[in-house]
Amino acid sequence: MNNDEESREMCGRPIGVFDSGVGGISVLKEFVKQLPGEDFLYYGDSAHAPYGTKNTEEIQTLSKHICEYLYGRGVKAIAVACNTATSAAIGVLRQIYTDIPIIGIEPALKPAVLMKKNPNIIMMATPLTVKGDKLHHLLARFEAEANVYALPCPGLMEFAERGIFEGPGLEQYLQNLLGKYLESGRIDAIVLGCTHYPFFRPQIRKIAGPDIPVIDGSEGTARELHRQLGKRGWLQKETRPGSITFENSDPSKIPLMEQMMELNIE
Ligand code: DGL
Repeated sequence: MNNDEESREMCGRPIGVFDSGVGGISVLKEFVKQLPGEDFLYYGDSAHAPYGTKNTEEIQTLSKHICEYLYGRGVKAIAVACNTATSAAIGVLRQIYTDIPIIGIEPALKPAVLMKKNPNIIMMATPLTVKGDKLHHLLARFEAEANVYALPCPGLMEFAERGIFEGPGLEQYLQNLLGKYLESGRIDAIVLGCTHYPFFRPQIRKIAGPDIPVIDGSEGTARELHRQLGKRGWLQKETRPGSITFENSDPSKIPLMEQMMELNIE
């Protein structure tokens, strides 16, 4: 195959997306919005979720297995639609897969920091993300410009895995977590540092009120995916609606993933 043929062949391949479970659908939704002609293969690892309470080595092993599988399926890029797996494993994955782009996600602190002078920001993430070096570097970058409360949220992603997006249990969890910060009246923004959490945005807004923006990192991640494929000349050239294939290590979660794809989480 010459270079042109090879590039044309790459354009037609699907994009692999994975998460510890159903949460990465919040990122997939943005991918479909920004890259509507692409085919996506989404893999949720619900059988091994949560990732956020495991250790770095375990997440690296799980992520490597999934990428091996996606790569074997002929994907032209892999998006790690999981902050925890990005934090723990993206370096290792990029060392293994040097011939396709590996895109990660990180908490979207920058737009929150730019909102005003010295903002007070709540950043919600899994315990492993909060402990990780990647977040510490990110926080150090903004240290002089913002006051960030990094809140680990063990047990929160499980609501989404069970298909619970509202109700007293979830409200109580969020109230216990956020109540004392919000009562101070000084919080300017909430950053969602886990891809499961955008599904709780309506509930978070209920507690935080309409004036506090609740920001996630999916837009920037989709832009980066677009940029990386464009740079290589690998964007889908055909103008036709793309497809989505859902897979999960726990196949009973597939109907939930399809349902979540339709939910409004803006
Ligand atoms: N969705 C994942 C994230 O973005 C993590 C949830 C978990 O498995 O703990 O961090």
